[in-house]
Amino acid sequence: MAPAVVGEQAAPVAQAHSGIDSSNKTLLKSEALYRYVLDTSVLPHEPDCMRELREVTDKLPWGFMQSSPDEAQLLRMLLKLTGARRTLEVGVFTGYSLLATALALPDDGSVVAVDVDRAAYEIGRPFIERAGVAGKVDFREGPALEHLDALLADGENVGGFDFAFVDADKPNYVRYHEQLLRLVRVGGTIVYDNTLWAGTVALPPDTPLSDLDRRFSAAIKDLNVKLSADKRVEVCHLAIADGVTICRRLV
Ligand SMILES: C[S@@+](CC[C@H](N)C(=O)[O-])C[C@H]1O[C@@H](n2cnc3c(N)ncnc32)[C@H](O)[C@@H]1O
Repeated sequence: MAPAVVGEQAAPVAQAHSGIDSSNKTLLKSEALYRYVLDTSVLPHEPDCMRELREVTDKLPWGFMQSSPDEAQLLRMLLKLTGARRTLEVGVFTGYSLLATALALPDDGSVVAVDVDRAAYEIGRPFIERAGVAGKVDFREGPALEHLDALLADGENVGGFDFAFVDADKPNYVRYHEQLLRLVRVGGTIVYDNTLWAGTVALPPDTPLSDLDRRFSAAIKDLNVKLSADKRVEVCHLAIADGVTICRRLV
């Protein structure tokens, strides 16, 4: 590459990859770079029904809870790459990730989607219906631990799912993991959201945090240590969105 010329003198060109080694090789150092990814590769491919639901949800007081567009794109890609047919979702809210899932599943695919909050799901249901994928969605209202246990009570469900996405109450993730390791087949995929909890997992222990952040961050740190040591799964921890961990069931 030719050096930039300032007047008569050649100015040194900053090397984009200088100072980088395997310990600090992350690219997303600015909101502008994230915006670039969204504008270039994510939002142009977001189906209209998903954009409409995302925009409606963004206006709600708890709208920040919905998955981000790039995470939803990752989910759709994973579902298609793995050829998932029977899937689970724990934590639906208004259904943005659920709609992404239902769109990515084949015509004979299905997603059992669990949330304690039916009112939030009802906000998103018309979007799912208009998208023509409501037939793939089996929404179940109530605490996920109980619903997953109920599924496990039917032997046909044991190892009967290809894929699960977990985005609900963080302190229960380690319990969901035990249930999902029985529900998702060997070779299947379990995806956990929020596994970096806004970066708090790497903050010094004496950093001031709200009670909720301290509790959820501790739960996520506990999960991350357990997943990393868990010989039953192979993990891939991605610094996308709020942190996403993909687990492939090995045994
Ligand atoms: C972060 S939101 C899910 C966002 C959703 N994936 C999306 O893309 O919009 C978390 C959801 O988990 C639900 N939730 C919390 N605790 C739960 C529990 N014990 N069982 C089932 N759902 C729960 C909440 O009601 C909330 O809707």
